[in-house]
Amino acid sequence: MDFEEIIFKRRTIRRFKKEPVALETLKKLIDLARVAPMARNIQALEFIIVHSVEIRKKIFPLVNWAGSLPEDQRTPEKGREPTAYIIVLVNTKIKNAYVDFDVGAAVENILLGAVNYGIGSCWMGSIKAENIKKLLKIPEYYNIKHVISLGYPDEESVIEPYKDSFNYWKDDVGQMHVPKRALNDIIFKIF
Ligand SMILES: Cc1cc2nc3c(=O)[nH]c(=O)nc-3n(C[C@H](O)[C@H](O)[C@H](O)COP(=O)(O)O)c2cc1C
Repeated sequence: MDFEEIIFKRRTIRRFKKEPVALETLKKLIDLARVAPMARNIQALEFIIVHSVEIRKKIFPLVNWAGSLPEDQRTPEKGREPTAYIIVLVNTKIKNAYVDFDVGAAVENILLGAVNYGIGSCWMGSIKAENIKKLLKIPEYYNIKHVISLGYPDEESVIEPYKDSFNYWKDDVGQMHVPKRALNDIIFKIF
């Protein structure tokens, strides 16, 4: 897949096949995050890989799915849950006032890298961070920023032209539709 194809192909995926993602692949994704741009090159981000069935089951209730969909369409059904998670941590002993931007850059590298391996992902900010911290016995000086849910895709999602709502929606055959503003509408000025 070429670079642009990867970018346009990436859509949030919230339904996954049972086939697990290899640990080596998950490590590779974190290697892509490792070299993302970081403000002043201060590297406060660290990552947790969750791929064991036991811990996956415990993380699942601690993340919230698809807030824009009706409640009965949000959460992956049994057997379609993520098969891995990457948890994005900030080591607060390493001070960086701009760390939230770094999180964005690192996560995007992971999401695009996942597409390259045929893996679907969901970047998740709506999480029970304190519960996850307790569950995984993460020391106080780490902040959990976001969780990335991963697995081989078991749903399709397509972009469609934005009309009057940013809400993504699911059609009768279970395909996701994600409105995106048109290129000409977001180029504010050209000088
Ligand atoms: C910072 C951030 C937080 C997000 N948090 C969640 C979340 O908690 N749960 C969820 O299901 N999706 C979450 N998403 C995914 C967005 O809903 C998704 O990116 C958006 O609908 C656009 O769809 P697309 O990724 O296919 O372009 C989040 C995305 C971002 C960038």
